Amino acid sequence: MTTPALHAELPLEARDNRGNRRHAALWHRKPSGSASGVFATPAVTLGGSPEGGGITLSRPIGIGTMQWGRTWLDGKLNRGGNLSEHACREIYQELRYKHGVQFFDTAEGYGGGTSEERLGDLMAQERQDATDAGANLHPPIIGTKFLPQLARWTKWSLHRALAASNARLGLQASDIYFIHTPVHPMPLEHWVAAAAREANKGHAKALGLSNCNAEQVKRACAEAKRHGQTIACNQIMFNLLCYGSPALRETEAVCRELGVTIIAYSPIGQGLLTRDLTQEKFDTIRVAKMAGISLADVQPLRQEVQRLAERHGKSMAQVCLNWTICHGAVPLVGCRSLAQARDSVGALDWRLEEEEVERLDAAALSMSTLAKPKWRRGLFVVFISLLMLSYKASRALEAVFSRSLWRSGWAKGSAAKSKGRVP
Ligand SMILES: NC(=O)c1ccc[n+]([C@@H]2O[C@H](COP(=O)([O-])OP(=O)(O)OC[C@H]3O[C@@H](n4cnc5c(N)ncnc54)[C@H](OP(=O)(O)O)[C@@H]3O)[C@@H](O)[C@H]2O)c1
Repeated sequence: MTTPALHAELPLEARDNRGNRRHAALWHRKPSGSASGVFATPAVTLGGSPEGGGITLSRPIGIGTMQWGRTWLDGKLNRGGNLSEHACREIYQELRYKHGVQFFDTAEGYGGGTSEERLGDLMAQERQDATDAGANLHPPIIGTKFLPQLARWTKWSLHRALAASNARLGLQASDIYFIHTPVHPMPLEHWVAAAAREANKGHAKALGLSNCNAEQVKRACAEAKRHGQTIACNQIMFNLLCYGSPALRETEAVCRELGVTIIAYSPIGQGLLTRDLTQEKFDTIRVAKMAGISLADVQPLRQEVQRLAERHGKSMAQVCLNWTICHGAVPLVGCRSLAQARDSVGALDWRLEEEEVERLDAAALSMSTLAKPKWRRGLFVVFISLLMLSYKASRALEAVFSRSLWRSGWAKGSAAKSKGRVP
């Protein structure tokens, strides 16, 4: 078996004009696996070849920021509450500067846009750091998503949503613009055509789908082609909890045939397939609730993953992420701490044996989000529309609250205090 080795380049240390330490990495000087005898997980080009204009990820892993929203509502929805600015910066800079991770996934629906804002702030900081250090960095690749809510019906609504996302991210064009879900009453073709129009105008560099099954992928690819575009990727739940599902296997086959890269969300089952799972934590995991499974149902699979983790000296999360990569998909893991970020990149630069991948395939469960009946999808579109309304209300209330705090004695008090302070 191959030797595990972290691909991280040595950070390039530099000092800014105030003498503070800055660091950045020259990630494009990738060590050649074959020459050194060390296995380096190969780069992945989303939706085809780099010559065909596909986006290449030098480190084939993505970081999800669904849990990076910063509203009051996120504090209620996220297990463990909201992440601090410090925690997000630490995670982002570790992954970017030390491990050369490029792909970050967000959505207008995550934190009602506040996840996009956080990424925008972090990228602005990175640009500043890179300028100060004089470094030549691989740029981050940002995927964001259009949420087809019930209040939206026209191509202009997609145009406005993309413009707002780009503004929050501080980008001229998003690298990948996903259609978050195909549940809207308007046909998928309508939204693909609208997204293709935006890509043709240069507001998005590549197009992606999300939660689309085999038949929807085919329809979307045909529609994109009619507008001179291609579909680069399909972001779906792809993990060992659902690989036994025929709908997922069919979608995988169609994506392969049409050159659509699978971006695998919930690759560690939102924590169901990691070592520190307890009954208490299990009860808070949404995918388990949605699928109506018990802890006992996942135990045989967990044991198989644990056995391989011990054999390779890896964590269970690393085994799951590596399994995803072995299937040609790009894992998209939602990191909430520095330790999790470091652990997740340890899924790169080694490989499960073919026979081990097959054993895991055979042990996989068959939960699937792709074979849901129509009425459940209908309920979902209502749910996401209400959620977005709640986010709007939450953000508006927070703005009013902070303005009135500012006008109140608190602001006057701090102003009075700062008057006597030497700057
Ligand atoms: N397109 C869609 O419809 C869709 C749907 C869902 C997700 N996504 C995207 O996919 C991303 C990831 O999916 P997800 O968050 O649902 O599931 P996930 O990545 O399978 O699980 C994330 C959770 O696992 C734990 N964790 C992360 N790294 C770990 C590690 N190395 N070791 C142990 N535990 C670890 C953390 O939870 P604790 O800290 O609580 O343990 C984290 O919140 C999201 O952030 C989002 O960008 C997209």
